[in-house]
Amino acid sequence: MKKIVLTGAAGRIGSVVRAHFAAARQPLLISDIRPCLAVTPGETERVGDLCDAAFTRNLLSDVDTVIHMAGIPDDRPLAELIGPNFLALNTLYTAAQEMGVRRVVFASSNHATGMYPAGQIIDTQVAVKPDSDYGAAKVWGEALGRMFWDKHGLETICLRIGSFTERPVSVRHLSTWLSHRDLCALLEVCIEAPRLGFEIIYGVSANTRSWWDNRHSRLPYRPLDNAEDYAERIAREAPPADPLEARFQGGDFAARYFNRADERANESGLADNLT
Ligand SMILES: NC(=O)c1ccc[n+]([C@@H]2O[C@H](COP(=O)([O-])OP(=O)(O)OC[C@H]3O[C@@H](n4cnc5c(N)ncnc54)[C@H](O)[C@@H]3O)[C@@H](O)[C@H]2O)c1
Repeated sequence: MKKIVLTGAAGRIGSVVRAHFAAARQPLLISDIRPCLAVTPGETERVGDLCDAAFTRNLLSDVDTVIHMAGIPDDRPLAELIGPNFLALNTLYTAAQEMGVRRVVFASSNHATGMYPAGQIIDTQVAVKPDSDYGAAKVWGEALGRMFWDKHGLETICLRIGSFTERPVSVRHLSTWLSHRDLCALLEVCIEAPRLGFEIIYGVSANTRSWWDNRHSRLPYRPLDNAEDYAERIAREAPPADPLEARFQGGDFAARYFNRADERANESGLADNLT
């Protein structure tokens, strides 16, 4: 059986992934900088900082696949992101290559392309357009994945995760939602897929209003959930979106600190004019 390690196991996504593996009775090596709650008999826990090269090398001994969820999931000041979202990635990739890991499944983010206009359909081959330092950190991670495949033969699947929530609660989520069930199905195909080198895929459910086209992906990912099922409820209950946030796929991450005077002066053409 493949040995799989889940980083960021104490986090929001990590907890859902742990429950999925436990239900499937698949053993899992779980790791986080803080202890996980309610460790089950099928789980082995290692607590430590992924910026620590010795810890990370030790963690990855005999591992087949790394599901890398650790990091800060928000646009924080660069000083806070540098360790978990930049340095830890380098430590992880270096250790994974040294320890002969087959594949890294990297939790990238839709914020790697968050400056594309809302409503535009983009695929996984478009140029990156990060919307924040957080989004730029995900681009850094994707670039490392690319480099470690090209130079060292270490495989990476980058998951540009949309909005991982139990149910969609905003108009933006009608396009970006990723259900718990679909994420777990996506991880299963990422673990099982035959050799595919480097790959990017959007982690998004089968939303009628999705902006993301996975046609170039070789993964047999077939999402089942559709945010549209919640559209009426969202229309009734969700507060109106901020107009600037609504212009970009990255929503509030894209709107934060936005100050292009030329584009603000011509708000009606803003999205089209951003090249
Ligand atoms: N939640 C979403 O909707 C979403 C969307 C896009 C991408 N992502 C990405 O998915 C991943 C998981 O997101 P989440 O919502 O579960 O975040 P989370 O904050 O709940 O979990 C992240 C975990 O990483 C751990 N961690 C942070 N720095 C670490 C380090 N140096 N060493 C070891 N562990 C460390 C934290 O303790 C935490 O438990 C993140 O990389 C995030 O950027 C999440």
